[in-house]
Amino acid sequence: MTWIEKRKKDFFHKKAKIEGYRSRAAYKLLQANQSHHFIKQGDYVIDLGCAPGGWLQVASKLVGLKGKVLGADLKPIKPLNLHNVQFLMGDVSDKELPKKILDLMGDKVDVVLSDLSPKISGVWELDHARQIDLANSALNIAKLTLKKGGFFFVKVFDGPYLKEFIDKMKKDFFEVKILKPKASRPESAELYLLGKKFKPKTEKLN
Ligand SMILES: C[S@@+](CC[C@H](N)C(=O)[O-])C[C@H]1O[C@@H](n2cnc3c(N)ncnc32)[C@H](O)[C@@H]1O
Repeated sequence: MTWIEKRKKDFFHKKAKIEGYRSRAAYKLLQANQSHHFIKQGDYVIDLGCAPGGWLQVASKLVGLKGKVLGADLKPIKPLNLHNVQFLMGDVSDKELPKKILDLMGDKVDVVLSDLSPKISGVWELDHARQIDLANSALNIAKLTLKKGGFFFVKVFDGPYLKEFIDKMKKDFFEVKILKPKASRPESAELYLLGKKFKPKTEKLN
């Protein structure tokens, strides 16, 4: 890591502490949304892999009083005490999760977010494959829970399986953009994809 990259890492880490965000990841969502405006006042938003809760804090502000945010993660989170945020402990590979999410939200949603990441083993091919697997679980949940025209913002690790994943997303969204927010470290192979305008096919919940 170069000194500039280190300084940048420290910069967002410190900024998060000062501004009261639970993670520096909060800025990745803020920056992407500043450019692409996919979360709006009144929206219903799902955040997959939400712990410790930085994105939940950002989404809560963006959707405002009339919106709703539901975070899901394997790990529990410390309560956020935000009026419009709920938390559900669960695994994104659990086939029952989409139904539980829809029951809690009471309706289909405008935006599905996914910052899912596996435990990093250090073996790149393995980490990439596991991460794309998680992104696929998030896409399946998005297909079952998004409203027509909805947005899907998902983290991916760049590598050999990425193209296949993007091609899959292109079948379900009118447009798929590849984003690299400034708060994402340049040396990291992490990218974000934004699927715009969901095109629902009739998919059944089991
Ligand atoms: C990078 S963190 C998310 C950070 C979050 N966006 C924030 O701003 O605080 C990735 C999360 O994915 C979660 N995760 C990994 N595998 C999962 C799975 N199968 N189901 C649900 N959550 C999972 C991890 O527990 C971890 O909390």
